[in-house]
Amino acid sequence: MTSTRVGFNRRRLRGAALSLACVLLCACSGQQSAITPQGPVADRIAWFFWIMTGAAGAILALVLLLLLAGVFRGRQQAQSKPLTYIQSRNLVLVSGVVMPVVVLLGFTLFSAMTDRVVAKPMRADAITVEIIGHQWWWEVHYLDNRQQRIATTANEIHIPVGQPVRLLLKATDVIHSFWVPNLSGKTDMIPGKTNTGWLQADQPGTFRGQCGEFCGLQHARMAFWVEAQPAGEFQSWLARQREPAAAPDDPVLARGQAVFLASQCVMCHAVRGTRALGRVAPDLTHFGGRKTLAAASVPNSRGHLAGWILDPQGIKPGNFMPPTALAPDDLSALLDYLHSLK
Ligand code: CUA
Repeated sequence: MTSTRVGFNRRRLRGAALSLACVLLCACSGQQSAITPQGPVADRIAWFFWIMTGAAGAILALVLLLLLAGVFRGRQQAQSKPLTYIQSRNLVLVSGVVMPVVVLLGFTLFSAMTDRVVAKPMRADAITVEIIGHQWWWEVHYLDNRQQRIATTANEIHIPVGQPVRLLLKATDVIHSFWVPNLSGKTDMIPGKTNTGWLQADQPGTFRGQCGEFCGLQHARMAFWVEAQPAGEFQSWLARQREPAAAPDDPVLARGQAVFLASQCVMCHAVRGTRALGRVAPDLTHFGGRKTLAAASVPNSRGHLAGWILDPQGIKPGNFMPPTALAPDDLSALLDYLHSLK
């Protein structure tokens, strides 16, 4: 009995250690990691993090070494020899005043140098993306040189590789925080304000962004993807996003569009080129081209989309999308139609 319990506990301990190692290792690589920088902004921030961690580690090690030295020397010498007044005064001055001032001043200057890169003004012709945080999704607009919106999407940001992209960050309801760990630091999105920032990807890739400020029930499922692609690919993606939705070209898609336009969907969602002009939920004009649903909560598959339409609260409790009851054939046509919006 006891040996079984010991074995069980050991297994549990091993399981816990493995899960912890997995969490720690997963946090260190991949598509959402501040210490695997993939662009100049994240690079500077990661560098700053390592220098601070290294310096703090070295100072901690030095303090512990001095402490240990004190403990062992105290044991060896029966007769302790007190410091003179001058010695103890100098000790307090050097370790309590000079060292902290030098270290903190160094960190402050280094932090200011990092900020200069993070807040660097962009060239006037830089690609500008306006991102608006909502409970719990991301509204994304691409702006032209005159700051006019030319394309709108949601929860997925495409950027050209090797080019700086200016960010205009806003919010409508509560404070959110824009964060793509591989590409940028966190910038708060505050209702009534426009914060600016920039990011750049050095290599093509897909990076996960996550809201970095607690914003209510589904804060954890307020994520998005950044797709860094070669300039030509990006330009053709953007050109497609500027277009209105294509008219349905077969009876099933036409039925799907009719279901969509007759349902409550149009109260909140827009499909440009139709009379669905809702603005309070994601623009669906090119919805079929997106990889995920509900702010990167689930894959944009047929099954997940059906679940999302019929019972959004089952997937993301507390979100503001109401359930829509549909007959099976209508639902099927609607799924075909939504996924045809590429
Ligand atoms: Cu938005 Cu947390």
